[in-house]
This record gives sequence, structure tokens and C-alpha cells, in this order.
Amino acid sequence: MSQQPIKFAYWVPNVSGGLVVSDIEQRTSWDIDYNRKLAQIAERSGFDYALSQIRFTAGYGAEYQHESVAISHALLAATEKLKVIAAILPGPWNPTLAAKQLATIDQLTNGRIAINLVSGWFKGEFHAIGEHWLEHDERYRRSEEFLRALKGIWTQDNFSFNGDFYRFRDYTLKPKPLQQPHPEIFQGGSSRAARDMAARVSDWYFTNGNTVEGIKAQVDDIRAKAVANGHAVKIGVNAFIIARDSEEEARAVLQEIIDKANPEAVNAFGAEVKNAGAASPEREGNWAKSRFEDLVQYNDGFKTNLIGTPRQIAERIVALKAVGVDLILSGFLHFQEEVAYFGEHVLPLVRELEAEQRTERAVA
Ligand SMILES: Cc1cc2nc3c(=O)[nH]c(=O)nc-3n(C[C@H](O)[C@H](O)[C@H](O)COP(=O)(O)O)c2cc1C
Repeated sequence: MSQQPIKFAYWVPNVSGGLVVSDIEQRTSWDIDYNRKLAQIAERSGFDYALSQIRFTAGYGAEYQHESVAISHALLAATEKLKVIAAILPGPWNPTLAAKQLATIDQLTNGRIAINLVSGWFKGEFHAIGEHWLEHDERYRRSEEFLRALKGIWTQDNFSFNGDFYRFRDYTLKPKPLQQPHPEIFQGGSSRAARDMAARVSDWYFTNGNTVEGIKAQVDDIRAKAVANGHAVKIGVNAFIIARDSEEEARAVLQEIIDKANPEAVNAFGAEVKNAGAASPEREGNWAKSRFEDLVQYNDGFKTNLIGTPRQIAERIVALKAVGVDLILSGFLHFQEEVAYFGEHVLPLVRELEAEQRTERAVA
């Protein structure tokens, strides 16, 4: 288990409609004023990272979207410590643009940008924006080349690269990013291809929500492969957090979210995500086994079960840390209010439990 304190990130609601596909009230807005204030609350509350989403169209609600790199920069400008992870989609972006754009943002924000390299699952979106649709594992092959090129440009002078998707000749980026060796690179997915890529090249692996046992299996698998590759990768897990003073209250909120789910939108989303994990050769990736209730939260966040009292949630977070999780990526119903509640009531308990475990280890 890592000796480091577990880290916390939140999903930036830069896409309209919140993080659950439900008609339940969500006191969350995708607009910039709401998001600036949320980022400030989050950094005061002890969050380390904010993750913004990339989306160009909506086939299932989520009607309006602010572009991820642009809004990430705006949030960095409104904060002092928070790191913001901007999502980049190979296709619309190439490594040249991403390297230059993110190096500039890194320079302008005192080294606080990070990236989430997404591989794509939404075929309708690719078609809508005139992007060529690659099959599942080809998307990861392209992402890995993108990542290798990006790292090369950020860390070397006279960079040359000869891939199937990207080529560079003697390219020197100036200035390079402030962060050394380079801004952190996150990458999401659960399929074999996603895990293998993470075990070879990514700094961080993000996965959808899952049970502790499910997460443990993924972590063990990735870490064993990473060791064999001489690579180190940290793990972030998605969770939709419902923290309330009593467990009954928290469970009632979950029930209401599901009861008020919008079936048309959930099913449309369910149909689209079949191009992800279920389309991978081993059929094991993200959403491959998601039921209707799971899909009400875009990234299977209920499965992680951070739903209950602050103590229950803190204990479950520490249990996730014990199986090798380094970061919790969180979503909330009413973001500003609940991020503040989490910072006040849950996070201090997590730190207490971590301190107790350190003492126990020292005594043992
Ligand atoms: C935490 C997390 C965040 C993600 N963010 C985005 C995003 O903003 N936009 C997007 O199109 N895909 C996003 N994805 C999708 C992944 O990049 C990937 O395409 C998808 O998870 C496919 O999974 P698979 O490898 O299991 O098939 C995200 C995935 C995870 C786990």
C-alpha cells in the first residue's frame, strides 16, 4: 500500500446535465461562474485535482459542453494550488498541437496542468465531427503513439519519431513545460488494451467505478504488467459520492436518482458505450457489464459504493487504498455544496484513518 496520502479529484461539470442521467434535482451548473467557484471550494477543501471532460456532441442529454482545454485554463487562472486535468482526444488533436498548447498553459499557470488522454467510445460523435472511427484496439494503438510522441516532444530536443499515425523530424519545442520531467499523463479505460497501455506508458490509469474486489483484480493485473515493463503507474478510481449524516438518507438519495432516471437517455448512452469495453476483443472493458442502474451514472460510479455516512465512506476509501488505489475521482449531485461537505466531514476522517494505519505499521 502507498505511504502517500490518497489523493482526491473531482469531475469538472463542464458538460450540462450533471453526472447522473436522471430528472432528480441537481444543483450543479456547467457554466463558468459556477465552475470557478467550485474549483476554489475544492482546493480549499483539500482536493488535489479537477478533471474536465471532452465532449463535442450529445446523443443522450448532456446538451451543452465547454471545451476541456479552454475551461481547464480558466479554472487554473481562478485557483492557486489545484491541478487541472484537461482531456485530449487523438484525432481532433495531434501531438504537436497538444504539446505546444499544454506547455504554454503549464508556463502560464506555474506548472499545474495535466492531461487525460481519452481514446474514444462515442462513434456518433466521431461521425458528427468528421473524424475517422477506428476499431477498439486501434484507438489504443493510436493513443499510445500519441502519448509517446507527446512525452518525446516535452522532454527531448531534436525529437524524431516514426510511427504509423504520427511522424516527427528533428523537432525542438521551446519553451518546454515547467513541470519536470513533464506534466502528468492520465489515461482511462478498463479493457485489456487500456490496461496494457497504462502498464507501458501512462503515469496514471483511470478506471470506471467498481467493487473493491473488482478494483483489486485490475490493480494487481496492471501493476504486475507494469513491473514486468519496468514502468510505474498510479491508479485512480471513479466514484459517485453520496455522503449524508445518516446511511438511510444517503441510500434514499441513490434510490431517488435511479427512480427518476431518464430511460430514453440512459438507454441511448448504453447503446453508445457498447463501442467501448464490450467491443474490445476480450469484451471486458468499461461498461461491458453495466446494468441500467449503473449506467445512470456515466462512469459506473455507484458501484464503488461511497454512499453512506462520512465514516462509512472514509473506511471504504481506506479499503480502496489498501488494494492499491492512489486517487479517488469523485462526482456529486450538488457539486459546490457536497465538495465542501466532503472536505469538512469525510476527508479529515480519511486522514485520521491513514495516520492510524501508519502508526500500526510503525509498531508492528
Ligand atoms: C475517468 C475517465 C474519464 C474519461 N473521460 C472521458 C472524456 O472526457 N471524454 C471521452 O470521450 N471519453 C472519456 N473517457 C473514456 C475513455 O477514454 C475510454 O475511451 C473508455 O473508457 C473506453 O474504455 P475501454 O478501454 O474499457 O473500452 C473517460 C474514461 C474514464 C475511466
